[in-house]
Amino acid sequence: MSITKEKDLSQIVETAVNRHGTHGDALIPILLEINEEYGHIPASALQDVSGKLHAGENGTVVSEGQLFSLASFYHMLSTKQRGEHVVQFCESAPCHVQGGRELRQAIQEYLGLAAGETSPDGKWTLVTTSCIGLCGVGPVIIIDEELYGNVTPEQLPDIFARYE
Ligand code: FES
Repeated sequence: MSITKEKDLSQIVETAVNRHGTHGDALIPILLEINEEYGHIPASALQDVSGKLHAGENGTVVSEGQLFSLASFYHMLSTKQRGEHVVQFCESAPCHVQGGRELRQAIQEYLGLAAGETSPDGKWTLVTTSCIGLCGVGPVIIIDEELYGNVTPEQLPDIFARYE
């Protein structure tokens, strides 16, 4: 990573902590902002957040490891660099029984990726998500901010072609 990018990252962390504060409730908003601004949350940012929270007024003592667990737990956060397009696949039971199992297999074959992987060209990242409350139109996938319901394996080439 370049020095400029490192500098940008520390500025992003600083801005996020200044905006949300150093109390415990600020943890998720801070991580969300860093993820949104930088695309993911590198280990150095977790270390930085931990130090800033500890040092802040009424600060929170939270280790880098605890922050990593949080960032790994929430689907909308990522500790790894993600691809240009992120495909989220709902893996909860209602989608699963409405054709989600076959769809997941088809997506993995189409992209050549398993869940959690990013393509070598950096174009695609495939991740799973739990129910997003749209079971009525399952199976559901989200590509970047766009939602697709009642998706069948046959529709995948057309859907993915929109991102070429
Ligand atoms: S189970 Fe997939 S949206 Fe609810």
